[in-house]
Amino acid sequence: MNIQWYPGHMTKAKRMMQEDIKLIDLVIEILDARLPKSSRNPDIDELGKNKARLIVLNKADLADEAVTEEWKQWFESKQMHVITVNARSGAGIRQMDKVIQEACKEKIERDRKRGILNRPIRAMVAGIPNVGKSTLINGYAGKACTKTGNKPGVTKGKQWIKMSKTLELLDTPGILWPKFEDPEAGLRLAFVGTINDQIIQTEELALEFIRFMEQSYPGVLKERYYPQTEPADTLFLGAGSQYANEITILNQIALSRSCKKKGDEPDLEKAAAILFDDFRQGKLGKITLERPVL
Ligand code: G4P
Repeated sequence: MNIQWYPGHMTKAKRMMQEDIKLIDLVIEILDARLPKSSRNPDIDELGKNKARLIVLNKADLADEAVTEEWKQWFESKQMHVITVNARSGAGIRQMDKVIQEACKEKIERDRKRGILNRPIRAMVAGIPNVGKSTLINGYAGKACTKTGNKPGVTKGKQWIKMSKTLELLDTPGILWPKFEDPEAGLRLAFVGTINDQIIQTEELALEFIRFMEQSYPGVLKERYYPQTEPADTLFLGAGSQYANEITILNQIALSRSCKKKGDEPDLEKAAAILFDDFRQGKLGKITLERPVL
């Protein structure tokens, strides 16, 4: 299964980011903690060169904690500052101020040497769609902050959120584009819902997801979708297919959730949709789709 997706407006988004990045000191790059590699656009390294960098591993509430820690160490080994956050609940957001000061130490020091004191750090939040950029900006900014902009000396048209005496945040995030050249990355992005489910075959995607789950988190699907009182493998379908085991499990999900088409045939599309809803809402537990090579 090969997913190709490149919306035309991404070209415009890239141009905008190239403009905005000139105005800032720090790039706050948001990644989905369940897939920190696939949700990252490596072009950010070129775009954000000479800027301080902070990686936010967001949606940490949905990710496997031990693997999130591995990712944190991996990014730190690449000289990046990292925090783990749940932007939806706000957990972890408070650490940001301290880490931002740390990430911008060199800029603050440079300013000080030039006799510039207390010039606020200007930061931009960036990331691919759906990683939680808006949620983070809203959660971080809270209600107490004030917006500034269109004042003399402030770049025209840009809105800055004054977070504190030391930090201003550009209120429009930089939208990066997902990288689909690697088919594995495309699949993982589809699992978490970055790509609209309507443009991909949910059923086929579900078979890939089931394969991943059986390899990396064995037992989780059985626990949730198989009856606990009867012997588990009552169904066996898809004989001869390279997806025989996955087809059997998808049929069992359909059976357990009464997904039927006319004529009592199992509705596998519907079962696939339920499976992805459960995964994306964290009902299958804390799951990470990829690990770093340490
Ligand atoms: P974007 O600006 O990067 O495109 O992402 P956005 O903030 O719109 O967030 C995308 C979805 O991810 C939203 O869910 C949001 O609530 C959810 N989200 C953001 N951060 C976190 C997090 O740390 N943990 C979890 N579990 N979810 C997070 P939605 O279903 O599209 O909207 P809503 O139902 O929350 O309103």
